[in-house]
Amino acid sequence: MITVNLRAKSPKAKIARLPPTLDTDASATVESLVGSISAATKLGPERIRLTLIDNTRLLPGTLLEKYDLQDNSIIYVKDLGYQVKWATVFYIEYAGPLVIHPLLYHFQSLFYHQEFAHSTIQTTVLNLVLLHYLKRELETMFVHRFSNATMPVLYIFRNSFHYWVLSGVLLGYFVYAPNACADLPPWAYYALVGSWVFAEISNFITHLILSSLRPKGTTQRKIPYGYGFSMVSCPNYFFESLGWLAVVFLTRNWAAAVFWTVSTVTMFKWALKKHSKYKREFAGKYPKNRKAMFPYIA
Ligand SMILES: NC(=O)c1ccc[n+]([C@@H]2O[C@H](COP(=O)([O-])OP(=O)(O)OC[C@H]3O[C@@H](n4cnc5c(N)ncnc54)[C@H](OP(=O)(O)O)[C@@H]3O)[C@@H](O)[C@H]2O)c1
Repeated sequence: MITVNLRAKSPKAKIARLPPTLDTDASATVESLVGSISAATKLGPERIRLTLIDNTRLLPGTLLEKYDLQDNSIIYVKDLGYQVKWATVFYIEYAGPLVIHPLLYHFQSLFYHQEFAHSTIQTTVLNLVLLHYLKRELETMFVHRFSNATMPVLYIFRNSFHYWVLSGVLLGYFVYAPNACADLPPWAYYALVGSWVFAEISNFITHLILSSLRPKGTTQRKIPYGYGFSMVSCPNYFFESLGWLAVVFLTRNWAAAVFWTVSTVTMFKWALKKHSKYKREFAGKYPKNRKAMFPYIA
């Protein structure tokens, strides 16, 4: 049995009823420690995040002995605030473009104050966007195995901005505007729609591979292999970016280019972090020639 000291992570955000010390068995699980803190503070366990002085997170599903805790070790406790299911946030995010695109496309007199015939490209983009976000909703429901069950409720607003405003309003408003996307010669049209289909199917395959790495109900992480993973750590982001690039060339519209740039830069930043995490986590075993997101480049 050891006695650990508990401190609020931020001195400004005090946690009511947080006991200064707690006795625990070093061979107990992180969940049991979280459970004791939850019982004392009356905060739900999903709101509690524990870290050590060097910011190492005490991960659910691990034993306390993994962190080499001693008598009087300090554990920092953070109240993450009200939580919402991770999947719920995704459903809400992706619902934005699914609602906004059909509205902008079908109610043209309301948004553009005139009636006009859409170009083939505009109708195609509507269908591609709907298929893309429907795929994402279904993947959230049936494919992804997230390690975090919940996230702070305020994240809904932060994360939704990208999908509702950039992918929904900005992209939709300017792409469905009168005379916005002139048609292309058939060879260019089919090449771009074909590239989009290839990118979406490839993105789906990488999601199946990621999901196969983690037995249901666990948070296990493994090194992914196969398909784009032989070249990059995050081929799912690479294919996602490729799909939206096809939309940029189909539409030749600045709003599509802005959305593609913001998405790709965001995914690249995440890919760099995930890439270094893989190298840290699987030191020595991680394939050395893999890049983060762009094959042979970075
Ligand atoms: N257009 C855009 O701006 C944009 C931005 C971001 C994402 N997206 C799309 O949304 C998709 C999902 O994004 P994401 O950021 O959630 O992707 P991600 O972090 O690569 O993860 C996808 C799923 O696989 C799991 N996973 C990842 N690596 C794993 C490993 N080594 N072992 C076991 N499981 C692992 C993740 O679990 P964890 O919960 O543990 O991470 C998550 O459930 C992307 O592939 C992309 O298509 C689009």
